[in-house]
Amino acid sequence: MIKPEAVAAGHAGKIIDMIIDNGFRVVAIKLTRLSRQEAGIFYEVHKERPFYGELVDYMASGPIYAAILEKDNAVEDFRKLIGATDPSQADEGTIRKRFAESKAKNAVHGSDSNDNAEIESNFFFSGRERF
Ligand code: CMP
Repeated sequence: MIKPEAVAAGHAGKIIDMIIDNGFRVVAIKLTRLSRQEAGIFYEVHKERPFYGELVDYMASGPIYAAILEKDNAVEDFRKLIGATDPSQADEGTIRKRFAESKAKNAVHGSDSNDNAEIESNFFFSGRERF
């Protein structure tokens, strides 16, 4: 996902360029908006964290881009490309170093495993939206 503050700031095109330039193939992509209920379900694994309420409000605060990306070793390589959760810890050249505002408003989300990539892909896309 490209998160609400990055979309609102007009960074989506540059972020998608970085993703494609780094060898990812876009299988599916759309501009959409999560309801609070949907954001709560998407981030249910973080339900017990103190920042859960803030995270849900933020993720429902405006449109996001959701995408499915394909590449050998995609999960690990995408996490390298986006950089650390906290942009102050992110390496130079990463998406979060360049575009994230804070640990909460950190511009992008990447799946943390192949299993979660499948679950998160199915959350957003039907079969006929994938190419
Ligand atoms: P993401 O990679 O989408 O996974 C969980 C999200 O929770 C994370 O990016 C941040 O947006 C948010 N998050 C993680 N840690 C914190 C924190 N300490 N305070 C607020 N939000 C956080």
